[in-house]
Amino acid sequence: MANQFPLNTILTGDTLDILPTLPEQCVDLVFADPPYNLQLKEDLWRPNLTKVDAVTDGWDQFGSFAEYDEFTRAWLTGCRRIMKDTATIWVSGTYHNIFRVGTIMQDLGFWVLNTVSWFKPNATPNFNGTRLKNDVEFVIWAKKSESSRYTFHHHRMKPFNDFNPGKQLGSVWKITATGGAERLRDDNGDKLHPTQKPKELLKRIILASSNPDDVVFDPFLGSGTTAAVAKQLRRQWLGIERDATYQAAAQERIDKVTPLSLDDPLLAEPVKPPRVAFRQLVEAGYLQVGERLYLDQPDCEAAIMADGRLQAGELSGSIHRLGARLKETPTCNGWMHWRYADDEGNLHPIDALRQQYRADMAD
Ligand SMILES: C[S@@+](CC[C@H](N)C(=O)[O-])C[C@H]1O[C@@H](n2cnc3c(N)ncnc32)[C@H](O)[C@@H]1O
Repeated sequence: MANQFPLNTILTGDTLDILPTLPEQCVDLVFADPPYNLQLKEDLWRPNLTKVDAVTDGWDQFGSFAEYDEFTRAWLTGCRRIMKDTATIWVSGTYHNIFRVGTIMQDLGFWVLNTVSWFKPNATPNFNGTRLKNDVEFVIWAKKSESSRYTFHHHRMKPFNDFNPGKQLGSVWKITATGGAERLRDDNGDKLHPTQKPKELLKRIILASSNPDDVVFDPFLGSGTTAAVAKQLRRQWLGIERDATYQAAAQERIDKVTPLSLDDPLLAEPVKPPRVAFRQLVEAGYLQVGERLYLDQPDCEAAIMADGRLQAGELSGSIHRLGARLKETPTCNGWMHWRYADDEGNLHPIDALRQQYRADMAD
């Protein structure tokens, strides 16, 4: 398959055999949900004596940590080879495997950007009460190397902030574990795949770190969640799965997906708010030359100068530089840390005036 590059296809077989057949640097984004090596030795039972549907499948069994590490190193190396230099990789896991995976990723040269903690409000309790409820999974997000450039849509992701909508998205994501109509079931009504990921998780990952038409790759496709969401978001996709039952179910699922219409806002380039310089607020009369601003720490205030810089005693500089100097921190977002006093003497971040200025300009 030297120069052939199959797209929008599930390749059936072992990912370790198939990865070397793909061309170098051909994918823009990797999502991998590898075996967890859960090491479950016994069945788990609920207090009402029903059996917990845990992952006991053969694909999750490894003889030792060393065997698991060898497998992990091999598939991560294969993925790194087919990643474009600007690609990023997201690897999901639980406490059973994520630390081993993270170490190996760093050893291979990947550069970790974030670790998302996926909080599942509907997680299964620890019925024996012997540990905390295990209600988080983790997703390591990394670029190919320390110096690589990569895609990240900061503004696009703000609406997904579960705790403070509209503000910068943090790395704790509250997403219900797959259930209801989204859960694929077999003819007996049992879960078709034990670890079907929620579409919402993949939606965030794909929107955050790829663009329409980019190639999204999943080396452990399972029930096809990555491909289904990639298709819906008008990305190209490629997946590998070695279990024929999962492969068939995934294909059927993907075939049913209709891509979003081209004018869907999720596909539009996110609109960045126009840049505003602090000086513009002074020139437009939102703040006055000589007016005092107050840093969010005791006894730190400064006067506004005509050129838009601030002066505090002998020191002067931009809202950012002077803020960092006074706070003794490497950087400071002056918009958030300097405050102005309103007519009643109440203090507000100057960012409120910037937002007012933008709104007034847009009218
Ligand atoms: C954790 S599940 C992925 C679930 C998937 N993210 C979803 O939403 O359905 C891992 C999948 O990888 C497959 N798998 C495990 N080892 C594999 C290998 N060496 N090559 C190909 N597929 C493999 C398993 O059959 C299983 O479906």
